[in-house]
Amino acid sequence: MAATDTFVKHRPGAVGRQHWVKKKDKRVSLRSKRWHVLEILAKAEEWTSLVELGVFTGPTFFHLLATCKRMTVIGVDTYALPEGTHLEDGYTDYGRPDMDQLRRLVTEQAAKYGDRARLIIADTVETAATFEDRSVDCVFIDADHRTERVLADFDAWKPKARKWVIGHDWHWDTVKAAVMARTDKPTLFPDHVWGIRV
Ligand SMILES: C[S@@+](CC[C@H](N)C(=O)[O-])C[C@H]1O[C@@H](n2cnc3c(N)ncnc32)[C@H](O)[C@@H]1O
Repeated sequence: MAATDTFVKHRPGAVGRQHWVKKKDKRVSLRSKRWHVLEILAKAEEWTSLVELGVFTGPTFFHLLATCKRMTVIGVDTYALPEGTHLEDGYTDYGRPDMDQLRRLVTEQAAKYGDRARLIIADTVETAATFEDRSVDCVFIDADHRTERVLADFDAWKPKARKWVIGHDWHWDTVKAAVMARTDKPTLFPDHVWGIRV
């Protein structure tokens, strides 16, 4: 069964292919979060690796490490707000945490997962150059939400993915513009998750 069979077509008129989770499926519901969507796809397709661009406090990163025990999860985050970043750019929805402290906490917790967890403290686009093409099953884009930055992440990382490029915050106009510049048929999942099978 294809992983997306888990999701059923709900709104044929919507832009792209709108997929929602079968209500009777106990594993996920319409209230599912991005990490549940990724977990289901990862298990169904037996992913062994995922790169998350933008880790922040790590709800997705740590959920995947805890639930997908055969998967290596690589997180990339600068843990620094770039110059000229504003509230609406997607960084500071959760307040302005001390990014140094956050980096330390996430690094400390990641160490508990040994080799399966890797945290790269660097810019997402610069980091892409250090990966071989088709070297990871999925790339999850959730870093800088400005259109040109989502496009830069997409273009730098798509060649690195074997199965999916997935991202968060489809409901942001800036993100939607970037995704629609690369495909007119993204697969849409709960929690404003968009995806493109490569
Ligand atoms: C929206 S948060 C990530 C949320 C996380 N993916 C989740 O599921 O909860 C965005 C993160 O991206 C990071 N970020 C933004 N631009 C970046 C860049 N160019 N390179 C690396 N990290 C970046 C920020 O530091 C921030 O922690």
